Amino acid sequence: MEINTPALEVHNLTASYNRKPVLWDIDFQLPQGQLIGIVGPNGSGKTTLLKNIMGLMEPDSGYVNMFGQKLDDVRERVSYVPQRESVDWDFPASVLEVVQMGRYRKNNLFKRLTARDHEIATQSLEKVNMLEYARRQISQLSGGQQQRVFIARSLAQQADLYLMDEPFVGVDAATEESILKLLTEMRQEGKTVIIVHHDLQTAYEYFDWIVLLNTRLVAAGPKDDVFTSNLLQEAYGGRLTVLSRIGDLIAKKDFPLRESDFKEKEGQGDG
Ligand SMILES: Nc1ncnc2c1ncn2[C@@H]1O[C@H](COP(=O)(O)OP(=O)(O)O)[C@@H](O)[C@H]1O
Ligand SMILES: [Mg+2]
Repeated sequence: MEINTPALEVHNLTASYNRKPVLWDIDFQLPQGQLIGIVGPNGSGKTTLLKNIMGLMEPDSGYVNMFGQKLDDVRERVSYVPQRESVDWDFPASVLEVVQMGRYRKNNLFKRLTARDHEIATQSLEKVNMLEYARRQISQLSGGQQQRVFIARSLAQQADLYLMDEPFVGVDAATEESILKLLTEMRQEGKTVIIVHHDLQTAYEYFDWIVLLNTRLVAAGPKDDVFTSNLLQEAYGGRLTVLSRIGDLIAKKDFPLRESDFKEKEGQGDG
C-alpha cells in the first residue's frame, strides 16, 4: 500500500434519518499516520458520519474508501469504538471477554483463541490500566472504566485505522491524559487515529488535523488551517458570537471554551 493513499476518503456523502438529511454532500480526504479530530457542535452529524463510514448506515448518496479500498476489503485493518451511550452495558460479559472479542475477527469465529490472542488481549488491558479489572463484569464498571475497556478491545484488533466516537466523554482528567498519550503513541507507530470530539479547546491541543462539521463540511485540514475565526464561526454560528474576543483568542491560539460555556451563555439569552 502506498503511504500517500489517504487513510480515509469520504465522497459526496449525504445521509438521512426518515428522509431528513443530517449530512449534506460531505467530501474530504484524510492522510495516514495522523491524529485527527472530527469536531462540531451537538447534533452536527459526527456520530452519523462515523456510522456511514463504518457501513452501519446506508447513505442516500456518496461513498467511502479506506486505504483506497472498500470497507469490506480492509475490515481487518479498521477498528471502531462507538459512542459509549449507544452500547448495552448490561450485556453479561467480563472485561477480559469484551477485549478478547477484539481478536475474533482476526481468527475464524469458530476457532478457539490462541495463546497469542490472550497475550494481546492482556497487553491491551494493561495499556489502558484496566488489567486488574479483567474478571469484573462490564456492567459493574464506571463510565470511564467502560470507555477504557472499549478502547482496549479496539487496540486488541491491531488495526491501522481507528475511529473512536467521543472517547473522552465521562472520563476523569487523569484518564483523558493517559488515553491521549496512548493515541499519540499509536500515531507514532504510523496508525491513523480519528476521534470524534466536541471540545474546542482541547481539539486544538490534541489533534494534527481537524474536520469541522455542521451538517455540511465546514473544513478539513491541518489544524492551523481549520482553526480560524471564520471557519469556527461557520461551524458554531451563534454559539460563538457570545465570544466577542474570538479573534484575540485565535491569535493566541487559546480557546478557553467548552461546549458547557456555550450552553451557559445561551441560557442567559446572549446566544
Ligand atoms: N436514530 C436517529 N433517528 C433520527 N434522527 C437521528 C438519529 N440519530 C441522530 N439523529 C439526528 O441526526 C442529527 C445528527 O446526530 P448525530 O450524528 O448524533 O450528531 P453528533 O454526533 O454530532 O452529536 C441530529 O439532529 C440528531 O437528532
Ligand atoms: Mg455523537
